[in-house]
Amino acid sequence: MRILGIETSCDETAAAVVDGSAPSGTRLLSHRLLSQTAEHAAFGGVVPEIAARSHLDHVDRLVGEAMGDAGLSFDAIDGVAVTAGPGLIGGVIVGVMTAKAIAAVTGKPFLGVNHLEGHALSVRLEADVPFPYLLLLVSGGHCQLLSVDGVGRYRRLGGTLDDAVGEAFDKTAKMLGLGFPGGPAVERAARAGDAKRFALPRPMLGRPGCDFSFSGLKTAVRQAATALAAAGAGGERDVADLCASFQAAVAAVLADRARHAMRAFERLHEESTRTFVVAGGVAANAMLRASLEAAAASEGFAMAAPPPWLCTDNGAMIAWAGAERLRLGLVDSLDLAPRPRWPLDELSRAAG
Ligand code: KG4
Ligand code: ZN
Repeated sequence: MRILGIETSCDETAAAVVDGSAPSGTRLLSHRLLSQTAEHAAFGGVVPEIAARSHLDHVDRLVGEAMGDAGLSFDAIDGVAVTAGPGLIGGVIVGVMTAKAIAAVTGKPFLGVNHLEGHALSVRLEADVPFPYLLLLVSGGHCQLLSVDGVGRYRRLGGTLDDAVGEAFDKTAKMLGLGFPGGPAVERAARAGDAKRFALPRPMLGRPGCDFSFSGLKTAVRQAATALAAAGAGGERDVADLCASFQAAVAAVLADRARHAMRAFERLHEESTRTFVVAGGVAANAMLRASLEAAAASEGFAMAAPPPWLCTDNGAMIAWAGAERLRLGLVDSLDLAPRPRWPLDELSRAAG
């Protein structure tokens, strides 16, 4: 079962082909990605209009290259999957129209994938992780804990009350002049830093439930950065220390909330295996992965995470989610409308 996947919902234009019936480790047939980072860098964030135009300029070529790398013609694929939301709507429309055109011309099944479901199932592309599992989904726009009961079956255990964690990384980087996207830059700077130098808040730590909040932490980073600037400081050493302190605060909060969710997950699934999955762009962070792995171990959970390239946006996770959906006959019609907003637990209600 060979599926072409297309991703254009943010600032990465991506196309990939996966074989949904191959054994793990051999499923990825091709994977092409063009990051628009340079086009948005001057603006300090993603500009939707620039993103949409860039997707339009490059998506056909990337699809052609992914098909060429896989050595396949359109006749040889079994379905076309595309991110149909949530995301920046101009970009989503570009991807959806491209996928619909391919599906219409070839007569192959069309699969409109929720981008969050792409992240949620991405771990299963390269490893045989059975359902159910607890998922921490951490990206630029989302921060939630979910029980993944099956394809299209998600129960939300908690989420952020304000900013997403990736957003907090991006804003921190911007305040410290580290550029965009912020996550990798903060992680790099933090490596040489002293995480104990700045006493930053750990919002929600120890509170009941599984919700998050990052706006207070962001404000505290801003205050620390302003104080450094006022003191004529803010050199490499200071920036590294502040990044390390910020990352340590994030790690502590994520681990605490995840531990609460592990207990909630156990109450939902008394009999099942205990697997904790972390996915989404922020899951590419090595320090956070290590701290979450320790938290999982302390609760008797095994942690699984996609390799870093599969954590940040890509076409392979969309192709894979499409394969998982096609296997269950969850095909979409060509009049499916792209959606700027599309909560993941809404899928469960649709799947019944
Ligand atoms: O999943 P993703 O590529 O796009 C969304 O769906 O949002 O996630 C992008 C986010 C950005 O906020 C980026 O700064 C963050 O993931 N990110 C990281 C790292 N790599 C990407 N955050 C922390 N550490 C990283 N190494
Ligand atoms: Zn994403």
